[in-house]
Amino acid sequence: MTEALNIALLGCGTVGGGVVKLLYEQRERITTRAGRPIQLQHVVVRDLSKPRPNCLPRERLTADLERAVKDPSVHVVVELIGGTGIARDAVLTALRAGKHVVTANKALLALYGREIHETARQAERVVAFEASVAGGVPIVAAISQSLAANQITSIQGILNGTSNFILTAMSEHGQTYEQALLEAQRRGYAEADPTLDVDGSDAAHKLAILAQLAFGVSVAPSAIDRRGIADIDSMDVRFANELGHRIKLLAEAWLSDGLLALQVAPVLLRASTPLAQIRGSANAIQVVGDVVGETLFYGLGAGEMPTASAVLADLIDLAVGRAQRTYAGLKLWSLRDAGSALRDADTVRSKFYLRLIVADRPGVLADVCRCLADEQVSIASVIQHEALDDEEADVVPLVILTHAAPGGRFRAAAARMASLPGIKGPSVWYSVAD
Ligand code: NAP
Ligand code: HSE
Repeated sequence: MTEALNIALLGCGTVGGGVVKLLYEQRERITTRAGRPIQLQHVVVRDLSKPRPNCLPRERLTADLERAVKDPSVHVVVELIGGTGIARDAVLTALRAGKHVVTANKALLALYGREIHETARQAERVVAFEASVAGGVPIVAAISQSLAANQITSIQGILNGTSNFILTAMSEHGQTYEQALLEAQRRGYAEADPTLDVDGSDAAHKLAILAQLAFGVSVAPSAIDRRGIADIDSMDVRFANELGHRIKLLAEAWLSDGLLALQVAPVLLRASTPLAQIRGSANAIQVVGDVVGETLFYGLGAGEMPTASAVLADLIDLAVGRAQRTYAGLKLWSLRDAGSALRDADTVRSKFYLRLIVADRPGVLADVCRCLADEQVSIASVIQHEALDDEEADVVPLVILTHAAPGGRFRAAAARMASLPGIKGPSVWYSVAD
């Protein structure tokens, strides 16, 4: 048999543990697909005393990261530590030592992709990253290889499993935000710092990677208009349901008139649409290409085994020599910066959901409507419910759906309303996609 592909695995937490299990428990299948054994030489962790998968021989475990990364017998370093500190140093060291790298680390690629891919090019090595976007869903290969004949015109994705898990639990099981987040962490979906999941940063990192692949532009995640789910009120989840919609954290990119619009935000989606029906930690990405039309990719986007599945796909591709061609051919992060190619968010048109808490007295609705009219935003429908409870009998929620309007105009109208005497509390708004 051909020489084994030797691996140094950095990190044996949720995803690293899944990779270890897959390598040992499906050894025969992996060897057949790879054409040679994939051999774990070192598994690097921080705390040697923590429990690890039973199948992992203890002598493979080490806390000596540098020795593992530089071991001359190692061909591939698999980075599953996370973050942009030690992980970045380890990846750069590995490439300079002549190793290929496999990583699931979207933050690292979104923030330091240019440096990492340039280092890989100089070292004539590749960085494979299928696991970095949408876990087990093969969206990197789909966009960069299978849809290569297309100009991609739009991407709409549910790219963060933790947020989708929380929104599903709030919408379908009446759980609080806090309960649902704790459960997502317990299941291993969340980042070490879950703020990245719930404030939209993780989805923005993934969108930046997809934008690079689909549109050939290098976008700093900070340039992506971003809102998270942390302040979503269960009242709005209920109103969205009542209106026949679901609230989803959506990452979106559209190309029109040569300009690219990018956004991560909670959006109301009509309940009958495919993306509205994505539940739990699942991810889904709708990609439109000028030749193929609409495509939809779906699967588990977070968690131990779905992500390990994507890591192993890259390892098998490296073992057979495919990844050396496909990833090297992407010319990643050497293409044009997004710069002037990005559309100003204020010009992006959308329908909007607006929820206000208002004094239940004459003239308030008229004042609110005037703010919208002054900004040329047209109202599609209005719902005013009964008082919230007995103690606040003079205060009611008011929900307005608008027709499509430029985002800047709508936000200006919402800002004007804030100073109206009849408005009791901050307004809540989301765009609506049908
Ligand atoms: P995790 O469960 O927190 O595991 C991190 C691992 O890295 C642990 O084994 C930890 O060691 C090790 N580690 C941390 N600092 C270290 C250091 N200084 N030296 C050596 N080892 C160190 O993280 P994860 O959820 O598996 O995520 C790993 C990566 O995959 C992240 O980039 C994440 O964004 C990405 N990802 C995660 C998922 C998911 O569903 N979890 C899905 C897709 C992508 P100890 O075990 O000793 O603490
Ligand atoms: N924390 C991420 C999520 C892991 O919840 O989607 C998968 O990238």
